[in-house]
Amino acid sequence: MARIKIAAVADIAEGTTVKFSFTRGERPLEGFVGRFKGELFAYENTCRHIPISLDYGDNRFFTNQGDALMCQTHGAVYEPDTGLCTRGPCAGASLFPLEIAEEDGVLWFEEE
Ligand code: FES
Repeated sequence: MARIKIAAVADIAEGTTVKFSFTRGERPLEGFVGRFKGELFAYENTCRHIPISLDYGDNRFFTNQGDALMCQTHGAVYEPDTGLCTRGPCAGASLFPLEIAEEDGVLWFEEE
């Protein structure tokens, strides 16, 4: 179990995301933190259609309009604030949320 430093809160601007790596048991996983309408969100970087990453390794999660998150493979669209898939092959499913903590202006993730 480790504590992972993600980023300074001030560095996560509106409509941007920061990725981080962690492990669950032996399994290496990726998460991402972003900001939407001023609020931070954090999800596992795993699509609910097929369990592959939402981005192509390029930290691209937001749509061009910046109003939703999108899986680059088949275009599933997710609400940034709730993680709910509103359009696409996994409509009705939700991204797996991750619990992050802020301490002295820095975001942390605690591995299970
Ligand atoms: S893998 Fe994400 S929509 Fe198909």
